[in-house]
Amino acid sequence: MNAERMDREELIQKSALWAQDPEYLRCVRDILDNKVFQSMDQFIQHGHTTCKAHCIQVSYIAYQICQNRGWDSRSAARAGLLHDLFLYDWHTHARETGEHFHGFTHPRVAMENAIRYFHVSEKEQNMILRHMWPLTPVPPKYKEGYAILYADKICGLAEVGSHIKAWFLVALWPRQMG
Ligand SMILES: [Fe+2]
Ligand SMILES: [Fe+2]
Repeated sequence: MNAERMDREELIQKSALWAQDPEYLRCVRDILDNKVFQSMDQFIQHGHTTCKAHCIQVSYIAYQICQNRGWDSRSAARAGLLHDLFLYDWHTHARETGEHFHGFTHPRVAMENAIRYFHVSEKEQNMILRHMWPLTPVPPKYKEGYAILYADKICGLAEVGSHIKAWFLVALWPRQMG
């Protein structure tokens, strides 16, 4: 299917299929199997979604967008997995360290960790470093970086949205029904 015709919901639904996509897995197997990447499972990103689950979704959506356009889907898949590799709980980070600008600083921390633990190309480094644009002033250098931006935003919205929906369901559940 042409990416232009995929709507957000469809992309998010399709992102659950990453584990059954051998072509995608071939691009990212080394990262998925790495202990440092797996350690993101202990940190919550948005709502109830861990950093690891968030990064996999962003990676697979960006991969599909790029694949449908004939862009560099391998780099998008790899940078997507590593774009939030900051390796701390950002909810408690400011309290623990006094560093209050996670939104601005985490792309560089993630890029430095990606370089430390994985083989990442200059293009992938740029995609990680620029993924918070326009919050951070410099835009991505490569078109694939915009696929990461877009995937990150729709995943973030969906994760926060489902958390709010779950909260309303619990809060509004009639008490007498248990
Ligand atoms: Fe991020
Ligand atoms: Fe993200």
